[in-house]
Amino acid sequence: MPLSPQFLTVTPEARPHVALVQLNRPKELNALHYNLMLEIAQALEELCANPAVRVIVLTGSERVFAAGADIKFMSERTAVEMLEIDQISLWERIRKTHKPLVAAVSGFALGGGCELSMVCDMVVASETAQFGQPEIRLGIMPGGGGTQRLTRAVGKARAMEMVLTGQPISAQEAADYGLVNRVAPVGQYLEEAYRLAAAIARMSPVAARLAKEAVNRSFETHLDEGLNFERKNFYLTFASEDQKEGMAAFLEKRLPEFKGR
Ligand code: HXC
Repeated sequence: MPLSPQFLTVTPEARPHVALVQLNRPKELNALHYNLMLEIAQALEELCANPAVRVIVLTGSERVFAAGADIKFMSERTAVEMLEIDQISLWERIRKTHKPLVAAVSGFALGGGCELSMVCDMVVASETAQFGQPEIRLGIMPGGGGTQRLTRAVGKARAMEMVLTGQPISAQEAADYGLVNRVAPVGQYLEEAYRLAAAIARMSPVAARLAKEAVNRSFETHLDEGLNFERKNFYLTFASEDQKEGMAAFLEKRLPEFKGR
């Protein structure tokens, strides 16, 4: 059954083969309440099951991508309540999105908002974007993967500084550190994200899925096992019609038409 989310706008074909998921909880600066996270997880799962969609763009507004987990909701919770609610299990569902996921980030991407951008595969930022892990200022620490993904993305010294001081970094710094793929003016960042998504949507969805899995595996395992995993996925691409089409098109000097089979 199609979703009717309260805090999201989902557009399955915002561009050919590209879906848009837009966070829409403006008064609270897209604070990541449990229900919003649940809607994001459900929307991504639904878009993954839709064969017309090849790439998903996740965005907020020009002012804010997301200002983090909902502080009002969390302020009076005990550890046991937090454990029972277990919002972070929803992050696992988001992480399992097998289609390429591009974050288009403008304004604040703080705490869980920064972590949400890092769950995505690529990030296009507007010049006003700020990335930060300010949890320490609230007497807590990152819980949505910040200490792990940020460290892998920007290195230990920078991650330590961001996590221990809570000081955010600018879009340009994030690009220099490798957290962000590209930076565009405020009026153009979403278009730039669509451009990147469209370039991926032209590729074989089968190959894109297997390649995404293999790149992600590099964070989770040692080199030997990672290379093994890559080799199996490489051979598996030869089971697809897209592989035949891609290579035939090259030899016939024409553009390929990938079908996702
Ligand atoms: C709940 C939030 C919120 C949040 C902002 N608001 N961030 N509500 N949770 N994370 C609310 C404010 O209370 C305010 O509500 C309204 O949004 C507008 O915010 P202002 O602070 O007035 O806006 P501004 O002065 O422009 O400052 C923007 C800001 C600041 C710099 C982003 O709001 C801020 O520092 N927010 C908190 C950022 C943060 O600490 N994030 C980490 C959260 S912990 P009212 O009702 O007053 O208008 C976290 C843990 C993740 O993310 C764990 C994994 C899941």
